[in-house]
Amino acid sequence: MSYIDVEHEVKRYDSGGSKLIANNDISFSINQGELVMILGASGTGKSTLLNILGGMDSCDDGRVVIDGENIAEYNAKELSEYRRYEVGFVFQFYNLVPNLTALENVELASEIVERASDPMSVLKSVGLEDRANNFPSQLSGGEQQRVAIARAIVKRPKILLCDEPTGALDYQTGKQVLHILQDTSRKYNATVIIVTHNSAIAPMSDRVIHMHDAKITNIEENPNPVDIDTLEW
Ligand SMILES: Nc1ncnc2c1ncn2[C@@H]1O[C@H](COP(=O)(O)OP(=O)(O)OP(=O)(O)O)[C@@H](O)[C@H]1O
Ligand SMILES: [Mg+2]
Repeated sequence: MSYIDVEHEVKRYDSGGSKLIANNDISFSINQGELVMILGASGTGKSTLLNILGGMDSCDDGRVVIDGENIAEYNAKELSEYRRYEVGFVFQFYNLVPNLTALENVELASEIVERASDPMSVLKSVGLEDRANNFPSQLSGGEQQRVAIARAIVKRPKILLCDEPTGALDYQTGKQVLHILQDTSRKYNATVIIVTHNSAIAPMSDRVIHMHDAKITNIEENPNPVDIDTLEW
């Protein structure tokens, strides 16, 4: 049994009277501590899948087994606990609380769980110790994304889900963020799943899941992930 086993997962949305299939018979497995990328064109169901893995949405069919538990059968309360204790989420557009400083944003997340890391040391690990007392509006996009990552990892989640974490960032800042995400999987054995359009960054991952038209078209295992610094895009 793998850490994550998704079996025949289906998600449909109502779209103006007809049903749209966003995830069509999705099956894959991921081991603990892997860094995985989900690649595919716009509208192929990547965010839908990520939201289902993170317990933010539920599927219509199939099993979503995380660490031996089928979260597809969870009720709202169980899902909320799962999100709280197991999952860190990094959104494409950061979603920081605007009237809290960088440090306060991270502290807020750390208060949710007992095993949390020290917020200031996590901010340090993403290179933001000097910006701790700034508000999000005073930070660049890359700095805000690093606060968002600090907020997600301060809880020491077992699963870190990232939706286009480098989508809004320049090249150098994007690489810096990828380093932080890779460190999180290597040092803390967190399972890190990254949704991206950018196929050039796939070689740094342990596994690549390709999606097209709501389906998985291919899964590649990569026994020798390359160093992020060698990636070019
Ligand atoms: N809440 C919703 N209601 C109806 N349809 C939805 C909803 N959310 C997503 N969809 C549809 O489901 C399909 C998959 O959407 P999803 O957001 O998962 O795609 P994506 O692969 O993340 O795309 P992108 O790369 O543009 O973010 C799309 O056709 C989208 O329009
Ligand atoms: Mg998306």
